[in-house]
Amino acid sequence: MHPVRSALALAGLLVSTALAVPAEVANPTEHHPVFECNLPVHTERLPTYALGHSLVFPQDKLQAIIKGAAGGGARIDEREDDSGRYWYSRETLVGRFDKKTNETFVLPDLPSLKPGDIKLNGELLKILMADRSIIANDKTLAGIVIGSRLDGSRQVLRKEPSPPASYLLEGAVRRAIPYESASHPVCGPGSQAVFSFDASGNIRGLRHAWKPATSQGTSLQPLRPDQIRARIAEKLAESGLDGNATVRHVDLCFYDSGAAHIQPVFRFNATVRSAGGPATALLVGYIPASDKGALEPLPNITNPDRGALPGPSLPQYDPGLNATRSPRSATTLARLPGPSRRDGAIALGRYLMNGDGLSPTFIEEGWGLWSGLHSASSRFVDAQYYWDDARGYNEWAWYYVNNVDVAFSDGHGWPHHFLTNGGLPGGGTVTISSDLYAKGFGASAEGRGLSYWILGECSVIPAPTDFPAGQGHLAFDPWWKVFDGGMRAAVGYRDLAFTNPPKWSEVGMALGYGASVVHGFMSTMLPTGKTSAVTRCGRDGETIFQVGGLGKPDCLTIWWYN
Ligand SMILES: *[C@@H]1O[C@H](CO)[C@@H](O)[C@H](O)[C@H]1NC(C)=O
Ligand SMILES: *[C@@H]1O[C@H](CO)[C@@H](O)[C@H](O)[C@H]1NC(C)=O
Ligand SMILES: *[C@@H]1O[C@H](CO)[C@@H](O)[C@H](O)[C@H]1NC(C)=O
Ligand SMILES: *[C@@H]1O[C@H](CO)[C@@H](O)[C@H](O)[C@H]1NC(C)=O
Ligand SMILES: *[C@@H]1O[C@H](CO)[C@@H](O)[C@H](O)[C@H]1NC(C)=O
Repeated sequence: MHPVRSALALAGLLVSTALAVPAEVANPTEHHPVFECNLPVHTERLPTYALGHSLVFPQDKLQAIIKGAAGGGARIDEREDDSGRYWYSRETLVGRFDKKTNETFVLPDLPSLKPGDIKLNGELLKILMADRSIIANDKTLAGIVIGSRLDGSRQVLRKEPSPPASYLLEGAVRRAIPYESASHPVCGPGSQAVFSFDASGNIRGLRHAWKPATSQGTSLQPLRPDQIRARIAEKLAESGLDGNATVRHVDLCFYDSGAAHIQPVFRFNATVRSAGGPATALLVGYIPASDKGALEPLPNITNPDRGALPGPSLPQYDPGLNATRSPRSATTLARLPGPSRRDGAIALGRYLMNGDGLSPTFIEEGWGLWSGLHSASSRFVDAQYYWDDARGYNEWAWYYVNNVDVAFSDGHGWPHHFLTNGGLPGGGTVTISSDLYAKGFGASAEGRGLSYWILGECSVIPAPTDFPAGQGHLAFDPWWKVFDGGMRAAVGYRDLAFTNPPKWSEVGMALGYGASVVHGFMSTMLPTGKTSAVTRCGRDGETIFQVGGLGKPDCLTIWWYN
């Protein structure tokens, strides 16, 4: 995500003025990551904070936002269970309040959005920020920044795509901590207050989680730059990524876990080269800012309890199926494995890149997605779980990707390409669409018929604006063949994205409760990178339970965040 950090300084965010020293004092004999950034220098003792109970977003304001998000006139049904309250417009989830965490989100009804020149509604934001049940009255700072902008373009078959237009703009409240006469960002999943505005200045979306913080004094001595460098190298070595990682940025931020503390940390981001192919991915990591260690656990780059390994790819199954590589025969097709459509089962297939330094993270993300879906609804079936293989999208698509309702691929990627196996020459590259099954994916091709394709790889769904002016059709071109099979939507990223297993669980839950696949994905995953999606025109509001046969499309929409 690249939010523009200028903006309406309502409560004034100062720029950090910390000194910086160059990081590179290379020891060529040592196995170490490359540092291409400065390291921060801080000397004053660092403050820590204790968090109180989560605020509950005021119900009257929430009701008004939910009505607006659903496009005004639509009827809203409220449902409730042990874990939360849910608001639906027809069958699509537009809002959720989590009773355990007090977190709230509202998603806009995409089909009802109108394009326009969007500005933040500063007056309304001021009123919301002044509400003590939205932003706590405490010694931390809060300021408004302009967040991401949702753009879209559609292409009617054999016509030029429509000029890109804007549909939503985020105004985000950024929390910060005063330290060494500057203000330093609060980072981590804990504090969020993001409002999405439409072209008429109405709020159409919301993410909110906030806890008041009490100062616990300033007791921690910050690490010196050489210590910071060594700790980051250790952290990368723990995950086995040190040889292929380049650290791009290190700064001081205050990590809000959303649990008990806001604690100072050094945050770093790094690019990680793929095995086999030319791709890179991003990761973000945190080390405690002092020698005293962490007040509460910080997320690790890899987690040893990530879940079972995927099954070996290709083809181990039924000798009868194995004998015929051709799916043409009706008896072969009739014997395809998978849960019954009649029971309303939604079959999930997960295909993860093998042979790469980040493969353990891809596994963790795959389990995150499954646990989220599964916790939201018992209709999901974990039908396929394999190491990825390029043939699963082509000659074996009828058995793999096109024999599930929802496919999740994860690995490294770049525009219209992704890698499946770092151990193969070229990394087992799949090019969209020349390496895909010729009839595309969906009910018109052999197999169950894919409805939704979730691409966890970086950059696979570029936007028309990622191509030279007048060449926007290049963003659409390869997708026509894929959708000709009847598929409903593909969601992913248009740019580099950060790995983040907990977010995959969150998005699984949002989709499992019935959020629009397109915008539920794009909005939930936005903190990890610029999300994007390709969908059939007018079907952007469909949920993961709307599966099955559609014919060839005559219009496609691409949505993307800036
Ligand atoms: C959520 O809000 C309620 C009511 O204010 C409060 O009792 C509860 O502790 C809050 N939950 C959390 C996790 O802080
Ligand atoms: C790394 O983090 C810094 C500060 O948060 C940010 O400005 C920069 O864009 C990030 N780099 C990447 C590659 O995302
Ligand atoms: C770096 O990637 C290469 C493949 O490109 C792999 O062989 C090697 O083991 C990796 N090294 C580390 C330390 O991750
Ligand atoms: C990260 O790893 C360390 C050491 O292996 C462990 O103590 C810590 O609890 C882990 N953190 C999380 C959030 O799992
Ligand atoms: C299926 O075919 C593959 C090669 O295409 C072979 O390696 C495998 O052993 C076969 N499996 C069975 C059960 O015959």
